[in-house]
Amino acid sequence: MNLFYLVPYFLLVYADKLDFDLVTDYSVNDCLRVNNTQKLNYFALDEDGFPYCGTYTDAAACNPDIANSCEPGLKCGTNKTCEVDITSCFKYYANVTGNSKMQKLLWTPDCQEDGSWASKQCKGGAAGRCFCYDSKGERIFGNAFADNSANMTCACSKRKSELLDPTNLHNRTYVSFHCDEQGNYEELQCDTDHCWCVDTQTGELTSKIVPENSMTYLKCSGKLQGSQYLRKCESVAFAQTKITEIMKTHGVISPNIQRISCESDGSYGPYTITNSQVTCVTRTNSVLQYQASIKDITSMDCNCAYDQDLYNRIGKSFTLECQNNGNYKPFQSAYKDETVKSFCVDKDGNKKIDNVNVNETDSYCEQFYD
Ligand SMILES: *[C@@H]1O[C@H](CO)[C@@H](O)[C@H](O)[C@H]1NC(C)=O
Ligand SMILES: *[C@@H]1O[C@H](CO)[C@@H](O)[C@H](O)[C@H]1NC(C)=O
Ligand SMILES: *[C@@H]1O[C@H](CO)[C@@H](O)[C@H](O)[C@H]1NC(C)=O
Ligand SMILES: *[C@@H]1O[C@H](CO)[C@@H](O)[C@H](O)[C@H]1NC(C)=O
Ligand SMILES: *[C@@H]1O[C@H](CO)[C@@H](O)[C@H](O)[C@H]1NC(C)=O
Ligand SMILES: *[C@@H]1O[C@H](CO)[C@@H](O)[C@H](O)[C@H]1NC(C)=O
Repeated sequence: MNLFYLVPYFLLVYADKLDFDLVTDYSVNDCLRVNNTQKLNYFALDEDGFPYCGTYTDAAACNPDIANSCEPGLKCGTNKTCEVDITSCFKYYANVTGNSKMQKLLWTPDCQEDGSWASKQCKGGAAGRCFCYDSKGERIFGNAFADNSANMTCACSKRKSELLDPTNLHNRTYVSFHCDEQGNYEELQCDTDHCWCVDTQTGELTSKIVPENSMTYLKCSGKLQGSQYLRKCESVAFAQTKITEIMKTHGVISPNIQRISCESDGSYGPYTITNSQVTCVTRTNSVLQYQASIKDITSMDCNCAYDQDLYNRIGKSFTLECQNNGNYKPFQSAYKDETVKSFCVDKDGNKKIDNVNVNETDSYCEQFYD
C-alpha cells in the first residue's frame, strides 16, 4: 500500500497555512513555555480551529464589545486597551512583556486552555513538591513529594472543592467524599447515605451504588478503617454541627464550643477554633504554637506549620521561617558560614524570587505573584 494515502486529506489541504509554530501535542503549557527564558508565547486556536503559539505584544487597542479581542490572559480595560486579567492563570505569562519584575519569577503555573489553573501544580523540580489547586488558583487539599507524585491527580479534592464552592449553582455545605493525602479518591466513597467503589485516580464508578447500611457488601469496603465510614475528626465535626443546629433552635446563636475542621482524608486540620482564637493543628489534632485572632482566619493557611510538622515526621530538616499564624514568611534568608542569601517564597514555601537584597522585607516579596 502506498503510505501517501494514509496522510489525512485535511492536512494536505491546510499544509500551506501552517506558518506558525505548531506544537506537536497541542499542549497549552508547552506553548506557554516555548521559550522559557522569555515566556512570551500564548496558546490559541486560529479561525480554522488549528492550535498555534502566538507571541504576546505590548498593550494593544481593543474593543470591549467583542469577546476575546485581547490575547489570552489579558482583558479589554476601561481605556479600550488590553490589560492583565488578574483572575487568569495566564497572567503569569501575559504581563511579562511590560513587567521586568515578573520576568524574575522562578515558577509559573500550569494553565488550562480556558485560563484556569491545572489541578496539579509541581514546584521545585525533581526534588520539589506537588500541590492540588482549584481552578481559581487557590490551594486545596492534597500534596506529595515530586518523586512520589506520578499517580497524583487531585481529582477528588478538586471535585469536592467544586461541590463546596458557594458560587456554584449546585453548591453543598457538606460533602463526605474521602480523598487520600495526594488528593486522589479513596476506593470506598459514601455521600448522602449511599456508598460505592471508584477508580482512585479518576473517581469513575467501579461498583453498584448501595445504601450506606449495605456498605459492607461492596468489595472495596475491606479498605474501611474501623466499622464506620466517617473518621474520628469527621464524626466529631458532624456531632458539633448537630449540636449547633439544636442550640440554634433553642435561640442560642453562638454556642461557645471548640469548633474543629477536618481535612479531605478525614484527618484534623488545618486549624481548630477556640473562642476567638484560631490555632494550627497537626493531622492528629496536636496543637501547634501558631495562632491568630479569628478575625484574621481568611488569611490563615497553616501551610508552614503543616510542612514543619511533615518534615519533622519524616525526619527531613526544615529550614524555612513561619509567621506567627503558621503561614510562610514571604521574605526568607539562609545563612551559611559568613554569607547570607535572601529570597522570596510563595504560600507553598516554594522559592519564587532569588538573589533578593538581604535588607528587603516581606512587603517586597508580596508584589510578585504567588
Ligand atoms: C528564547 O529567548 C532567548 C532570549 O531572548 C533567545 O536568545 C532565544 O533565541 C529564544 N529561543 C527560541 C527558541 O525562540
Ligand atoms: C486612561 O487614559 C487616561 C487618559 O489618557 C489616563 O489618564 C489614564 O491613566 C488611563 N488609565 C489606564 C488604566 O490606563
Ligand atoms: C503588569 O506590569 C506592569 C508594569 O510593570 C505593572 O505596573 C502592573 O502592576 C502589572 N499588572 C499586574 C496585574 O500585575
Ligand atoms: C503508580 O501506579 C502504578 C500502577 O498502579 C504503580 O505501579 C506505581 O508504583 C505507582 N507509582 C507511584 C509513584 O505511586
Ligand atoms: C448555593 O446553595 C445555596 C443553598 O442551596 C443557594 O441558596 C445558593 O443560591 C447557591 N449559590 C449559587 C451561586 O447558586
Ligand atoms: C544592609 O544594611 C546594612 C545596614 O544598614 C548595610 O551596612 C549593608 O550594606 C546593607 N546591605 C546591602 C546588601 O544593601
